Amino acid sequence: MASAIEILAKQAMKTFGDRRSVSYRLCQKNLDKLWNLMNKITAQDVKLDDSVLNYVNIQPAPMCVMDIFENKDITIAIFILKHGVMMPMHDHPGMHGLLKVISGIVELNSYSLKTKSDHIIKANEEIAALRHRPVTLHSNSLACVLTPSDKNLHQISCIEGPAAFLDILSPPYDVDIFGHGPRPCTYFKVIRSKLCAECTDVIEEVHLSVVESPPDFYSTSLEYIGPPLKTYND
Ligand SMILES: [Fe+2]
Repeated sequence: MASAIEILAKQAMKTFGDRRSVSYRLCQKNLDKLWNLMNKITAQDVKLDDSVLNYVNIQPAPMCVMDIFENKDITIAIFILKHGVMMPMHDHPGMHGLLKVISGIVELNSYSLKTKSDHIIKANEEIAALRHRPVTLHSNSLACVLTPSDKNLHQISCIEGPAAFLDILSPPYDVDIFGHGPRPCTYFKVIRSKLCAECTDVIEEVHLSVVESPPDFYSTSLEYIGPPLKTYND
């Protein structure tokens, strides 16, 4: 019988696999199905046990990354943050993403840019964004979804660690944005903010500026030892 992670990867390919074709349109039904499968994924499904979490605690990097699968259309990986570590605010240009916490507790702060989703951000640019109400996520929480226009930027803080989350991104970073070269990951900081008067999901209007990738935030890779995935053609 296929493993849960294999079924998930298959659905991710069904949802995003045709991404590079000009006629690609995201099918909401496929994304909903992927989200439902993501919600059921547990630490046991990917063999993330205490020995892995203990190792994360004693090694020096603030974050460990387990690559599970990558091709030109999707990346599937597990990110493990040490207790107290904050993954700085960054974007996922033109990408969709699903994030499911499988161990520990994180606080997720998401932002939606007020620019068009295909906007290419320049280094010295000041950009307007909306900050969404932060959410606290643990292994019983539902998966979070980001799209090219909605909640595309986030900052993730580990409040009970180590905390691990499974991440599916499409297209992967570094895959070309048509006419603009490799898809970068840009880091940001808030330079101004104004509280929103009405109490909705959006709590602040902010202005962001681009910052260098923070030197004290780095990661080390760990080997994925969970159920193997079939390779899908690139
Ligand atoms: Fe991210």
